[in-house]
Amino acid sequence: MNIKEIIEGIYFVGVNDRTTHRFEALWPIPLGVSYNSYIVKGKTKTALIDGVEISECDKLRDNIESILGAGIAPDYLVINHMEPDHSGSIKVLRSFFPEMTIVGNAKTLEMVKGFYGIDDNTRKVADGETIDLGDVSLTFKITPMVHWPETMMTYVEEKATIFSGDAFGCFGALNGGIVDSETDIEPFIPEMYRYYSNIVGKYGIFVQKAIAKLSSLKIDYICPTHGPVWHDEIRRIGSIYDRLSRYEGENGVTIVYGSMYGNTEEMAEVIATRLAERGIKTIKMHNVSKSDPSYIISDIFRYKGLVIGAPTYSNTLFPPVESILNAIKTRELKNRVIGTFGSYTWAPQAVKRINQMLEDAKLYTSDVISVETKQAPTAATITDCRALADAIANQLSADDPS
Ligand code: FEO
Repeated sequence: MNIKEIIEGIYFVGVNDRTTHRFEALWPIPLGVSYNSYIVKGKTKTALIDGVEISECDKLRDNIESILGAGIAPDYLVINHMEPDHSGSIKVLRSFFPEMTIVGNAKTLEMVKGFYGIDDNTRKVADGETIDLGDVSLTFKITPMVHWPETMMTYVEEKATIFSGDAFGCFGALNGGIVDSETDIEPFIPEMYRYYSNIVGKYGIFVQKAIAKLSSLKIDYICPTHGPVWHDEIRRIGSIYDRLSRYEGENGVTIVYGSMYGNTEEMAEVIATRLAERGIKTIKMHNVSKSDPSYIISDIFRYKGLVIGAPTYSNTLFPPVESILNAIKTRELKNRVIGTFGSYTWAPQAVKRINQMLEDAKLYTSDVISVETKQAPTAATITDCRALADAIANQLSADDPS
């Protein structure tokens, strides 16, 4: 059982899921995922902070009972976030512990009723309100749209601990260690980029507001609903979330392309080679027919340069590239240095469509450089692709001279 006393009176009682293939039925999770639940044990009252996904509910109950004792209910279930990967267990928990009061804000309790038909023994809390547990207290910080409208965080001032919901979370089951100081966190870092960009990425403005709201708090432990508890690495994790939510890319280029018979791919290779010649070491290449979209979206969020290419298909754009462009638009990504390229046999549509979609998405601030070839790349195409790479490299070094 995954139980750990993180700090005196605060326990991790979450569970791992190494069975589900796709989180939200969309995003592959080869390293699994954890659904984190916590107990805050005060001198007079106890609170369970967040639940778990429905299939893991029995394990959660065992974990709770191992801390509180058989049949002893927490006084409160605090719901920071209603997405069913956490709230799915509410109905069963209520049947295990009928006397436990469900705590949430007005929007939370409306969803508790809507999803689970529960509207009794609940307690509505407002932003800044506190519940006393004896020697410790819970203070609620409403942080809408991180990741749903009802999301809030719960702060235990006496322990300098924040229960942050999805914020600062990542994919990856916990392999024994719970707190960052007792586990190798490096495998979790790319999974944090992938988690943030795919799940929360649309809501950067709201993440920034939440970060501002937390800025005056003393925080020694961040307890998210997924992934490790952050203690030693709070500064690093905070900086990743801050940068991502400002849509600020790191120095590097993501090249995303589709290619049916290799002609567009050849252009991608020329662009990558020239970027490397110009000193850009971080170049992430994705063939859309092979890379899972979640990894592509993650790299597009992470790096400032973005080069997208595709062949024309049925007089429009190669469909998987159109799908990636739609994903970018949905997430309201901004401030990328863009190049586009493509090919056609008789009707030049791909680059026109890519550029139109990028303009609609308001993704870039500088001009888009484009190259398009008819049928197979020629010597002139190669020259143009190298010039495209030069323009991207010039813009990146102008933006980040280091
Ligand atoms: Fe982990 Fe938005 O739920």
